[in-house]
Amino acid sequence: MYNETNKMLNLLYERGSVRAYKDKEVSEKTLEKVLLAGKHAASGGNLQPVSIIIVTDKDKKDELEKLNLFPVKNIPVLMFFCIDWYRTKHWAELEHMAYTADKSIRHFIISFQDMMCHMQSICTAGDALGLGSCIYGTPKEAIPQLREIFKLPEAVLPINLVTMGYPKKKPPIRKKLDLEMLCHKNEYTQYSDEEFLEKIYKKHDKKLPLEENYLNEIYEVCKNVEGEDFAKETRQYLKEKGYIPDVCRYFGYKKYNADVFANQNKKFIKDIEDAGLRIFDDYDFSGGEL
Ligand SMILES: Cc1cc2nc3c(=O)[nH]c(=O)nc-3n(C[C@H](O)[C@H](O)[C@H](O)COP(=O)(O)O)c2cc1C
Repeated sequence: MYNETNKMLNLLYERGSVRAYKDKEVSEKTLEKVLLAGKHAASGGNLQPVSIIIVTDKDKKDELEKLNLFPVKNIPVLMFFCIDWYRTKHWAELEHMAYTADKSIRHFIISFQDMMCHMQSICTAGDALGLGSCIYGTPKEAIPQLREIFKLPEAVLPINLVTMGYPKKKPPIRKKLDLEMLCHKNEYTQYSDEEFLEKIYKKHDKKLPLEENYLNEIYEVCKNVEGEDFAKETRQYLKEKGYIPDVCRYFGYKKYNADVFANQNKKFIKDIEDAGLRIFDDYDFSGGEL
C-alpha cells in the first residue's frame, strides 16, 4: 500500500496493534533499547511526570490476571504507564519549594500528553526492533487496585498498559480516516452531510445485519439515554435503512455503549483524588493568571 524508501516512514505507515505474541522472551538488552526511546520522548517543560511499572513477578501477574481487564498470560512484556507527580512533589519537598502540580488540571493534562508521547516512542522503538505492541486503556478501570498492587505512592496514577513481544504474525494495517478528514487547512472544514457520510464510510464500512440481538441492545441503549420514543424511532430508522451502520455498533453494541461510558464520572474523579491528585478543586494562590 505504501512504498516509501524511508524505513521509519514505512514502520509508521504499516504499524498495527499486536495482541498475540510468540513464546519468545524479549531480552533485557532489547527491552532497554525500547525503554531508552521512551526516555527521550518529548515532555512538557521536560519534567517527565511519567513512570512505567514493568511486571515480571509471577505473583503480581496472578494478581493482575484476577482483575480480568487486560491480557496477562502469554504476554512477554507488561508495562503499566502511570502519570507520576510524586517525583517532582518529593523533590520540591526536599528542597523546601512550594508545589501545586498535584492540584493543577493544567499539569494533569500535560502529564497525560507526556505519557502518550512516551508510550508512542516506546511502541515505535519496539516496531523498529521487530517487536509488536498494543496499548490498553483498561487499567484506568482499576486505579485503586493497581495502586495497591504496585505500591504506588501518592500522586502516581496508573492509566495504560502496553503489552509487547515478538508478533505471532504481522498485524493488518487498519483502515483509518483520510487526511482530508483529519487535517484542516487554516479553518475547520465542515462537509455537507452527504459528503461527510461518504468520507466516514470510506473507513467505517462495517455493517451489522438487522438481527434481533443487535436491534434489541441498540434499542435498550437508546432508551436508557434518550427515552423510549427515541429508541422506537432508531429501531424504525435502522429497519428502513436495511442494516446497522458502524456508529450504532460503536455506541450501542458492546463497545463504547452510550448508556455506560458517561456513567460513573464521580467514581473516576474519586479515584483520581484518592490517588492524591486534587485537581478538581478550585484554588486561588494569588499568583494571577498565565
Ligand atoms: C488509548 C488507547 C486505548 C486502547 N485500549 C485498548 C483496549 O483496552 N483493548 C484493546 O484490545 N485495544 C486497545 N487499544 C488499541 C486500539 O484498539 C487500536 O489502536 C485500534 O483498534 C486501531 O488499530 P491499530 O492500532 O492496529 O491501528 C487502545 C489504543 C489506545 C491508543
